[in-house]
Amino acid sequence: CLAIITDKFGRPLQDLRISVIDRCNFRCTYCMPQEVFGRDFAFMPKDQLLSFEEIERLAVIFVELGVKKIRLTGGEPLLRRDLPVLIKKLSNIDGLEDIGLTTNGSLLGVMAEKLKNAGLKRVNVSLDALDEATFKSINDSGVGPERILKGIEKAKEVGLEVKVNMVVKKGMNDEEIVPMAKYFKERGVTLRYIEFMDVGQTNGWDFSKVITKKEIFQELSKAFELNPVDPAYIGEVAKRYRYAGTDSEVGFITSVSESFCSTCTRARIAADGKMYTCLFSGSGFDFRELLRSEKTDDDIKSSIVKLWNNRNDRYSDERTEESAKNKKKIEMSYIGG
Ligand code: GTP
Ligand code: 5AD
Ligand code: SF4
Ligand code: SF4
Repeated sequence: CLAIITDKFGRPLQDLRISVIDRCNFRCTYCMPQEVFGRDFAFMPKDQLLSFEEIERLAVIFVELGVKKIRLTGGEPLLRRDLPVLIKKLSNIDGLEDIGLTTNGSLLGVMAEKLKNAGLKRVNVSLDALDEATFKSINDSGVGPERILKGIEKAKEVGLEVKVNMVVKKGMNDEEIVPMAKYFKERGVTLRYIEFMDVGQTNGWDFSKVITKKEIFQELSKAFELNPVDPAYIGEVAKRYRYAGTDSEVGFITSVSESFCSTCTRARIAADGKMYTCLFSGSGFDFRELLRSEKTDDDIKSSIVKLWNNRNDRYSDERTEESAKNKKKIEMSYIGG
C-alpha cells in the first residue's frame, strides 16, 4: 500500500537523490579541490558501491513510501559503468513519476542517446562559465566549455529536457553572470544560478564568497526584464523567472540567502548505501548492511519510516558562520548535492 510519511515538521518524503559513484573526472575548486582529492585519494572500491539491483530494491521501497521523483547524482554519475541499465530498471517502477540526472556534461555527447532510450527524461548540467580560461580554472582538469555545450546540444537533440546549473562564487565567475544568461536565453535553456554553499569540510566557504540571488538579480535586471513564475510544485528548489516576451526561464537556488528547509522533502543515498536526511548531515544510516543481510523489504521499510519520522533537519535555516566552519558535514562529491 502507498503510505505518506512525514517528519517532525510535517514534511513528506517525496524526492530521492541517489549518488551512484563518488568519483568525478573534474576537480572543481569549490567541490573536489586537487589538494584534497589528489592522485592517492581513496575512492570507494566497486564492492562498496550499491549494485544496480540493490539500488532498484531500495528505490521500489522508497516509491512505496511516497517518493515520486528520483534524481541520480555522483560524483559524476556518467562515470558509473552501464548507467543506462539502472535507468531502465528505475523507469519501470510503478508510481515513480520523474527521473532526472545531474551531470557535469563532459560525457553527455556520447551518452545522451543511450540515456534517453533507457527512459531518462531530464538532465541538469553543471556549467559555471563560458569563458574558456575561467571554466578551465574552475574545473581544474583541462576540459573547455565547448565540450559541455556540445553535450547539452546533443541532449536537447535526442529529446531530453535540459537545465543548466551555475554555481556563482565571488571572484570565481562574477563576470560570467550576464554572458551565461544571454547564451541560454537565446537557446531556450533554463539556467539556474546557485548560491555557493558550505557543503563539506574542504571547500573554503565563507559568507564573503557568496553572491546572493539579490545581487545576481540586480545584475540581470540591467540587461533583461524578468517576471516571476509560480513554482511548479510545493518545495521546488529553484525560484523561477521568465524573460519578458519569451518562453525562456531563469532560476535561482538560494540555499544561503533564502533557505527553503520548510518545504524540503528530499532524502539522499550515497553511493555506499548510506542514507542522509539533509545535504549538511554529519552521519548517515547504512542501508547497504541491511540490503546484504537477511532483512526483508518490510524491515528496510520500517527503518526508513523511523529515520524520516525522526527527521528534524533545517540546516540552511539555521546556518551561522560558526556552523559553516565547524559542523561536521559530508562532502558534496560523496552525497551528490
Ligand atoms: P530539479 O528537479 O530539476 O529542480 O533539480 P534540483 O535543482 O532539485 O537538483 P540539482 O541536482 O540540479 O541541484 C541544484 C542545486 O540545488 C545543487 O547545488 C544542489 O546541491 C541544490 N539542492 C538541491 N536540493 C537541495 C536541498 O534540499 N538543500 C539544499 N541546501 N540545496 C539543495
Ligand atoms: N555550493 C553550491 N553548489 C554546489 N555544487 C557543487 N558544490 C557546490 C557548492 N559548494 C553544485 C554542482 C552541481 C550541483 C549538484 O551542485 O555544480 O551543479
Ligand atoms: Fe565539479 Fe560536479 Fe565533479 Fe564536484 S561533482 S568536481 S561540482 S563536476
Ligand atoms: Fe533540506 Fe537540509 Fe537543504 Fe534544508 S539544508 S533544504 S533540510 S537538505
